[in-house]
Amino acid sequence: MAKEFIEKLVKEMTIEEKLAQMTQLSPDFFDTDESVDLTGPAKEMNIDTDCIKNVGSTLNAFGAEKLIKMQEKYLKENPHKIPLIFMADVIHGYKTIFPIPLAMGCSFNPDACKKAAEVAAKESSAAGIHLTFAPMADLVRDPRWGRVMESPGEDPYLNSLMTAAAVKGFQGEDLKENGKIAACVKHFAGYGAPEGGRDYNTVDISTGMLYEFYLPAYKAAVDVGVKMVMTSFNILDRIPSTANKKLVREILREKWGFDGVVISDFNSVGETLIHGVSENGEEAAAKCIEAGVDIEMMSTCYINFAKKLIEEGKLPMELVDEAVTRILELKDELGLFENPYKDANPEKEKELLLCKEHREAARDVAAQSIVLLKNDGVLPLKKGLKVGIAGPFATSRNVLGGWAGKDIENVVSLYEGISSKIPGTMIKTAMTSELGAMQEGIFDVEDRVDEACEQLADCDVIIAAVGESPSDVGEGASKAYLRLSPNQEKMIFELKKLGKPVIVVVFSGRPMEIKPVLGHADALVQAWFLGTESGNAIADVLFGDYNPSGRLSMSFPQTVGQIPVYYNCYGTGRPSDGTLQRYVSRYLDCPNEPLFCFGYGLSYSNFVYSGFKVEKDGEKIIASVSIENNSDIPGKETVQLYIRDVASSVVRPLKELKGFQQIWLEGGESKTVSFEITKDMLKFWNYDLEYVFEPGEFDIMIGRNSEDVMVERIKI
Ligand code: GLC
Repeated sequence: MAKEFIEKLVKEMTIEEKLAQMTQLSPDFFDTDESVDLTGPAKEMNIDTDCIKNVGSTLNAFGAEKLIKMQEKYLKENPHKIPLIFMADVIHGYKTIFPIPLAMGCSFNPDACKKAAEVAAKESSAAGIHLTFAPMADLVRDPRWGRVMESPGEDPYLNSLMTAAAVKGFQGEDLKENGKIAACVKHFAGYGAPEGGRDYNTVDISTGMLYEFYLPAYKAAVDVGVKMVMTSFNILDRIPSTANKKLVREILREKWGFDGVVISDFNSVGETLIHGVSENGEEAAAKCIEAGVDIEMMSTCYINFAKKLIEEGKLPMELVDEAVTRILELKDELGLFENPYKDANPEKEKELLLCKEHREAARDVAAQSIVLLKNDGVLPLKKGLKVGIAGPFATSRNVLGGWAGKDIENVVSLYEGISSKIPGTMIKTAMTSELGAMQEGIFDVEDRVDEACEQLADCDVIIAAVGESPSDVGEGASKAYLRLSPNQEKMIFELKKLGKPVIVVVFSGRPMEIKPVLGHADALVQAWFLGTESGNAIADVLFGDYNPSGRLSMSFPQTVGQIPVYYNCYGTGRPSDGTLQRYVSRYLDCPNEPLFCFGYGLSYSNFVYSGFKVEKDGEKIIASVSIENNSDIPGKETVQLYIRDVASSVVRPLKELKGFQQIWLEGGESKTVSFEITKDMLKFWNYDLEYVFEPGEFDIMIGRNSEDVMVERIKI
C-alpha cells in the first residue's frame, strides 16, 4: 500500500509543496499565530505562511503536549495531510542524561552505548520526538575541537561498533514500535578533522585517510539500517560535503546503497555560498539537490530557487521527486500517516523521564565510562575516612556535558554522591565556587587557597574536583589551551602540601593537558561529563563499589603542542626509537608518546598477562593469551588485539585495533582469551581505493592498552 500511496501523493503535489517538504524550519515558524505577519527570520528567508504549511519537518521542539498541538495545527493547514517529522538532538540522553559519547567510548562496551540510546529513545518518543540527530560518528584526533565530546573517539573499529550499537538502540527492529525513534548518523564526512581543531575550519585529508579512518563508522551505521545521514559543514577535497556529489551520491548512495534521507546541517546549503562554491541560491540549490541532499535544514535555497531551475530545465524534476519520495517513505516507516503523533503521550512522558530504572542505567553506564589514570594505592577509599572535597566540581551539578539541556536540578553532584556513600561521615568542602570564578580569577587565589587548606587540614583524604567549564565543550567550543585554569592548578599544588593523599577528579569533555598536576596527585580519575548520575558513579568508583574498567577512547597529549597525537599513526621513514638521535621524527622538548594512550586505564585488580602465542590451526590463525587476576578484587579487563601490516603497497598504521574482549575475573581467577585472525581483518584500501588483502608479514599484538602489548610476527 505504502508505495502506491506515496507515488500517488508525489504526483498530486505541486512543485512548491515538494520543495517545502524538502525544507526544515525551527519550531518558532510553527508557533506563529497566522494573524501575525511573519517577520524576522521568515522575512530574511523570504518565506510566507503558504510555504510554512507545507514544510516537511522541524527540529528541537520538545514535549508531548506541545508537539501534539503543533502537529494538530499543522495538519489542519497542510493540503495533503502530510504530517511533520519532529527531529531533535537527543545525543546522550533526553531527560535522563548519560555520559558524553567520548566517555561512553571508554566503556569499550557497545551494549552500554545501545542501552543509553534505548533509554533516550523511550523518553524522547514519549515526549513526541520521531528522529534524533545522533549518533555522531566523526573520528577525532584533536582535543582542541570542542565536539570531540560527541564522538566515540580516535579509532575506526571502536567508533564503528559504538555507532552501530547506538543506531540499534534508537531504532530497534521496527520504527513503528512504541519507544523507538529514527536515527541520523552525522556529520558526513570528516567533520572531526578541522585544521587546528577549530570548529567549522578547513578539512584537508587524503582520500586514502578518508577511507581508512573517517568513513568506516558512518558505513557501520548505514550497514545496520540508519534512516538518515546528515552532511557536514566542512569541505572535503575542496568541496563542501553538502554539495559534494562524489561523497553523497557516489559513495553514500551508489557504493554503500544508502536509500534513506540525507539532511544538510544547519544552513549548510546556504553556506556553500560562503564557502565560495555557489554564486547564488540557485546554484546552491542545484548543487546540493544534485549531490543527493533531500532536506535543507534552516536555509531556503530549495524553496526559493529550485522551481525556476526546474522550469528552465536546469534541474531534473526526477531528483526532486526522488527526494520527496524518500522523505515520505521515512514518515511512512515511522507510521506517521496512520498516527501523526506516534508515541507522544504526556502521562507516559511524566512516568518515564528520570524514572528509577533509567537513572540506574545511567549510573551503570557512567561507572563504566570512568577511567582511572593514576593510583598510588590511595584508591579505593575506605569508609570512615574524613573526606575533604575542593574545587568547582565539588558541589556542582553542571556536569551533563554538551547537547544535554540546562535543567540540572536532578543531577547528583560529587558531594551528594559521596555523602550518600558514607552517611554520617564528615565531609568538608572548599573553593566550591562555580568554575567561572576559578577561571576568571575573580577572587584572589592566595586567600581562597589558604582558606581551603585551613578548612581541609583535618581531613584524612582530599578530593580535588577540577576541570573545564561545561560551556567550553560542544559546538563552537574550540580551545587553544587545554590546561586546568591557574587557580585550579594552584589549589592542587597547595592542597598537596598538607601531606594528605590528594585524588584529582577531572571533569571535562575532552582530553585535557593534565601533566602539570599529575605529580601532585596520588590518584587521578578522568570523570568526563557523566550526566545525571555523575556523583553516584564517581563515588561508586572512589569507594570500590565499582572497580574501574574504563579504557581511553582518545589519547591524552603531553601538551597541546603535541597535537595531533593518536595511536594508529604511520611510522614515517625516520621513526624515533626514544633515544636523543637528532635526525629522526621527534621533538627536542617532548616525547612522541601521549601522556596516556588509547586503550589505557587502570583497575583495582592486578591483571597479569602470560603465555601469549600465535598459532596456525589449519587455515585458521589463532592468537591467545592467559590473564590472571593476581588480586582479591574481582574486575573486568578489556583484552585488546592490535595488528600491523609490516609492508604493503601503501603505508599502514603502526598498529590498528582489530578486536577486544571484556572478561570478568574473580580474585585469583585465570582465563585464556583467543582471537581468530581473519584475512578480512587484514584488508585495507589500496592506492586505487580497492579493499584488498595483501599477503606478507604481520605483527599480531595483544595487550591491556595500545602501548603495553606482546607481539608475534607471522607470515600470512
Ligand atoms: C548543529 C550541529 C548538528 C545538529 C544540528 C541541529 O549546527 O552541527 O550536529 O544536529 O545543528 O541542531
